[in-house]
Amino acid sequence: MQGCDASILIDSTKDNVAEKDSPANLSLRGYEVIDDAKEQLEQLCPGVVSCADIVAMASTAAVFFAGGPYYDIPKGRKDGRISKIMDTINLPAPSLNSSELIKMFGQHGFTAQEMVALSGAHTLGVARCSSFKQRLSNFDSTHDVDPTIDAQFLKTLSKTCSGGDNAEQNFDSTRNTFDNDYFNQLQLKSGVLFSDQTLFMSPKTKPIVNGYALNQAMFFMDFQQAMLKMSLLDVKEGSKGEVRANCRKIN
Ligand code: HEM
Repeated sequence: MQGCDASILIDSTKDNVAEKDSPANLSLRGYEVIDDAKEQLEQLCPGVVSCADIVAMASTAAVFFAGGPYYDIPKGRKDGRISKIMDTINLPAPSLNSSELIKMFGQHGFTAQEMVALSGAHTLGVARCSSFKQRLSNFDSTHDVDPTIDAQFLKTLSKTCSGGDNAEQNFDSTRNTFDNDYFNQLQLKSGVLFSDQTLFMSPKTKPIVNGYALNQAMFFMDFQQAMLKMSLLDVKEGSKGEVRANCRKIN
């Protein structure tokens, strides 16, 4: 949360609890894939390619190999020297509504349209029950269950949660394919997180969801542009950062 500077890769030490050990980040995985890429790069060309560039390139490759758009991003990011658990309090929570999400992304210079396009990354992967179980019981003072969930999909989510807090629910019907199915699911009130479904329930973002559900090419265009913008957030240049030798440790 210090920008796009690979602070998420730093391991905790006896004096510091790092971002990766925050409850909000506990489900992140694949650190060893980044370690592997880093090791090979350091052998060929030591001290040149930052961990932040590796993470940024890994995200474009993941989108492309899953069938999404290919887009190039500038390289030359430096790695940050700070990673603190406290900074993760600024991550968006899955309980936020559309207006709150617009505000939060707006603070980093993103429009509502860019926020919805970026949320489309939930075309890939899974959420664990702990991220959406609040929707299934004691939802609010007037509803036991989140009224924005389709009745049939409610059964699916409840069944997933019968497997415990870590049980996984696919975000859409194609968890390894980058497509616009996520937006189709929102139209069917089958969004997994409250923060997903709210994008269709709010008049401010519903037309954007409908647009992407109808037109995958438009989603891909907006996604690329917004990801490029995100990859440039608070990039550290020159002496403000370093090229780590090991992505898990500050030099
Ligand atoms: C709009 C605000 C967002 C919220 C509230 C949010 C929240 C979440 C939550 C709660 C999970 C599930 C974690 C778990 O239960 O293990 C998740 C997964 C995921 N998020 Fe987001 N997210 C947001 C935006 C984004 C953005 C902008 C991206 C990337 C551009 C993204 C990419 C992903 C991916 C790929 C997964 C699946 C990870 C996996 O399969 O393990 N999310 N998100």
